[in-house]
Amino acid sequence: MATLHSKIEQEMECPREIVIWNYFDHEHVVGTHYKSYKKIRVYDEKDNWCFAERHFNISYIPFMVVSKNFSHLTSPHTMKSIHIGKLATLVQEYTFRDLPGEKCLVTLESRMEVPWPLGLLQPFFYEMTRKWFYATWDEDVPMRLRRLKVWKLGFKNFEGIGFINDKTPKPAGLPAERPYPIELPVPKSTSVCREGYERPFGESVEVGYGMPPLP
Ligand SMILES: [Fe+2]
Repeated sequence: MATLHSKIEQEMECPREIVIWNYFDHEHVVGTHYKSYKKIRVYDEKDNWCFAERHFNISYIPFMVVSKNFSHLTSPHTMKSIHIGKLATLVQEYTFRDLPGEKCLVTLESRMEVPWPLGLLQPFFYEMTRKWFYATWDEDVPMRLRRLKVWKLGFKNFEGIGFINDKTPKPAGLPAERPYPIELPVPKSTSVCREGYERPFGESVEVGYGMPPLP
């Protein structure tokens, strides 16, 4: 057997806890990544793992891929994600390193074992994993930054932002520091944990993407 391998590192301007929330927020994949993902179903999950099924299209593969995915937060700084498809198994290991100024460095190592003649596919594997990583990364960045911004304003799941709900001119009583906690499983609002959740739209006007950040 041969092992295809790729390693990608990317800095993110938010704490690692928000990136981890994003990776375990399975509902968003059929919305934020609606061009690639068609359906997501969570079979079971606990406070540091999730077992799900994903239906998606990926570059260079001319058919819909269905994979079973086991994601395990192996520590507050590391995650292992195993994608089992009909033809192959992809093992991904993420490392989340804290950087100064509410930033983090995400490192992703991907490996796939293949029969040895297919080891020639290494350049293709490297290109495909990079392309997939950066396509989904670019779509996730606005969501992560927005999460950080509203978190600092006191956002609570399913409650929103208190001072906006109360129609007062500015936030009051918020702590100066409000670290984002790792709290899994992420709360759900759809049927993703029952029969699954299909993408709600196939086309969308992507307001705000590619624009400069708000002051
Ligand atoms: Fe995402």
